[in-house]
Amino acid sequence: MPSERFTLPSFAKINWRLNVLGKREDGYHDLCTVFQTVSLADSIRFESAAEISLECDDPRIPTGPSNLILRAAYALREKYGVRSGAKIFLEKRIPAPGGLGGGSSNAATALIGLASLWSIDAGDEALAAIGSGIGSDVPFFLTGGTAFGTGRGTEIEPMPDIVEGLMLIVTPRIDVSTAEAFRGLNANRLTKESSERILKICRKDAFERLTGRTALTNDFEASVFAVHSEIRRVKEALLGHGAVSALMAGSGASVFAVFDKEETRQTTLKALGADSDWRMFAVSTVSRADFREALGRA
Ligand code: C5P
Repeated sequence: MPSERFTLPSFAKINWRLNVLGKREDGYHDLCTVFQTVSLADSIRFESAAEISLECDDPRIPTGPSNLILRAAYALREKYGVRSGAKIFLEKRIPAPGGLGGGSSNAATALIGLASLWSIDAGDEALAAIGSGIGSDVPFFLTGGTAFGTGRGTEIEPMPDIVEGLMLIVTPRIDVSTAEAFRGLNANRLTKESSERILKICRKDAFERLTGRTALTNDFEASVFAVHSEIRRVKEALLGHGAVSALMAGSGASVFAVFDKEETRQTTLKALGADSDWRMFAVSTVSRADFREALGRA
């Protein structure tokens, strides 16, 4: 077999809106969310090898069997009866944890990269079926761009791209556990009828009213801000310096903001950088077409 080696990006996401509808029988929660890929990205290098192995430039990232890249690799290999391995190297830039979907994104990029390395002809649906068993955000990271998510977050419907060129993501040094954030909501069990009714309203609102600047909501903000007031301060600082909109990303601790002038974004970066240890990233949205091209799936 000829040796092959290539590198793919693994983008971060934010949620323009994130509504938790209620608790499900399986312990997960039903969501109504709008995902968006942004230009902050890890990169993953794939190389032909006899065995599967993973290395990462960030010593804080566990590279054992719990790593979602390895879980994706073993699941794909098993499903398609592949006997080859792969040497995988992860260059980490997305804060983890951070509410930016880094682990799920890495798993999705691994599925795409390894399917190519191992010459597996798997379509989006087949990869999404494997991905949803690894993490709720994985199927979104096989689609990218702006997308509506329902169910556990695994049912993905592409939406017209929301385009914002001037954004900041700010991540304070706080680790929020996603499972704990869900528990902190104390969400009720909903009947199938009420869940469907709320979803219908939420869907209409998302498709008709949502832009990167209006109708942004995140149901985790109140309960997560109540425990970690520093995350609220990040949001207030971004708005105070002139961001047009700002919202916590996923279950936190990152907060994203949209600006209408590069000058305001730069002065905000400088001001926040001067008096905090927050990590900051100047980003823009990544459209579905650009996402697919970057991953060789155009
Ligand atoms: O699917 P994933 O492993 O990313 O989810 C992490 C945790 O977040 C789950 O174990 C679950 O506790 C919670 N979760 C949830 N409802 C969802 C997605 C995640 O309760 N829709």
